[in-house]
Amino acid sequence: MVVVANRLPFDLEKLPDGSTKARQAPGGLVTALAPILSRRHGAWIGWPGSADVELEPTTTDGLSLFPLPLSAEEVANFYEGFSNDTLWPLYHDAVADSQFHRQWWDSYRKVNQRFAESAAEVAAPGATVWVHDYQLQLVPQLLRRLRPDVRIGFFLHIPFPPVELFMRLPWRKQIVTGLLGADLIGFQLPGGARNFTRLARSLLGSTTSGGIIEHDGRKVRAAAFPISIDAAEQSALAATPEVHRASRELRADLGNPKKVVLGIDRLDYTKGIDVRLQAFGELLAEEDPSVQDAVMVQIATPSRERLGSYQRMRESIERTVGKINGDYGRIGHPPIHYLHQSLPREELAAFYAAADVMAVTPFRDGMNLVAKEYVACRVDGGGVLVLSEFTGAAKELRSSLLVNPYDLDGVKEGFRQALTMSSVEARRRMRSLRRHVLTHDVDRWATAFLSALEGTRDHVADAMTR
Ligand code: ADP
Ligand code: F6P
Repeated sequence: MVVVANRLPFDLEKLPDGSTKARQAPGGLVTALAPILSRRHGAWIGWPGSADVELEPTTTDGLSLFPLPLSAEEVANFYEGFSNDTLWPLYHDAVADSQFHRQWWDSYRKVNQRFAESAAEVAAPGATVWVHDYQLQLVPQLLRRLRPDVRIGFFLHIPFPPVELFMRLPWRKQIVTGLLGADLIGFQLPGGARNFTRLARSLLGSTTSGGIIEHDGRKVRAAAFPISIDAAEQSALAATPEVHRASRELRADLGNPKKVVLGIDRLDYTKGIDVRLQAFGELLAEEDPSVQDAVMVQIATPSRERLGSYQRMRESIERTVGKINGDYGRIGHPPIHYLHQSLPREELAAFYAAADVMAVTPFRDGMNLVAKEYVACRVDGGGVLVLSEFTGAAKELRSSLLVNPYDLDGVKEGFRQALTMSSVEARRRMRSLRRHVLTHDVDRWATAFLSALEGTRDHVADAMTR
């Protein structure tokens, strides 16, 4: 199997002495795919994470990595531009304005062509090629032209937008046609698959029935496959004595407060970090009993730092943290601890284990694996998850406290309830959440997707004999 994704699982950097430094790449796509692909000894084509880095293919952790270089101009136009300043906001309910520039589109097309050519070179005859995410939506069609013998799956990790929003895109037909090069197109939620099917009908006049779209003499299936994490591994990590000890030490370092509220995200304007800070700040301002002796920890991974929308969000978050700490802190006791850093998994697990309340408040999120990681890490059966109803995870994690991030009073009420919930009630909810997460892991997701893709074989064979 060949995976094609914008990023490799590691950011690779060439050091002056010619050696290569590797660190885990950010984001949920890598968290989900790296363990399953290692186990399946697959190949992975992706960008090594910095501009103008040319590296030879290499093998690590059972994975064959094929680095695909991007020039500085491609990083600016394809990655930061079209992928993250046109598609990302549009696909996330337009929570920020999308920019439409023809030269960005041009770069998107060309880089997608390069990814398709690389996949065509790497894939063995009759191989399965699994293309991932919004950065590579043209690859299925381009690859099919080059290699009609391979089976092509596509999975979108982020939401697929409502038809009315997608229609703004000047290149809407090209994107839909690009995706229809796949045999199977996977979405996080059934709503995404329905939106896409409607578009194929209205934009291309395709005949559709029960998630099957007829296109170019072929049958393409669109369906939902909600992604997950390696839950058993995450749970085992949280159960180690080292993580136990680290989580106790963390609470002590925080001054052994009665309650710890935690947020962990890429620093992204879709994540609602600002909302949760504001809600916590207002509870402090009102001297709400629930936040007496409560501390909030926000860990935000640096992300897409050259984009103005990300810079503005960072400034706003840091201003808010400073204001709340200035207004309500004491020497040695800030109410909010904020780290703008990427941390090792073991440390994140210790934070999850130490947190009484996990705040996950995106305005829109395809799935949100952080919510599932928190649940997997609660081997002690405690902890309360406050979860935005606009995440994919909210469709599965029904025993969390669901909140609407646009409703500040509702988020405050969610925090209040979480901070004052009886341990019997919290444990009852966590038991049900754990049952779900531990039985719906990333292996189940991959197996469901890949066997559905396998099931499309007949359609492929039909099309080839036609
Ligand atoms: P997204 O893919 O949009 O970033 P997800 O919640 O689905 O959102 O996945 C985020 C992944 O990144 C999770 O696996 C999480 O553990 C990881 N992560 C988030 N913040 C940090 C951090 N500060 N340091 C290291 N990993 C992080
Ligand atoms: O699906 C979420 C996602 O956008 C991935 O496609 C991406 O690899 C990850 O988050 C992190 O974003 P970036 O690659 O832009 O740093």
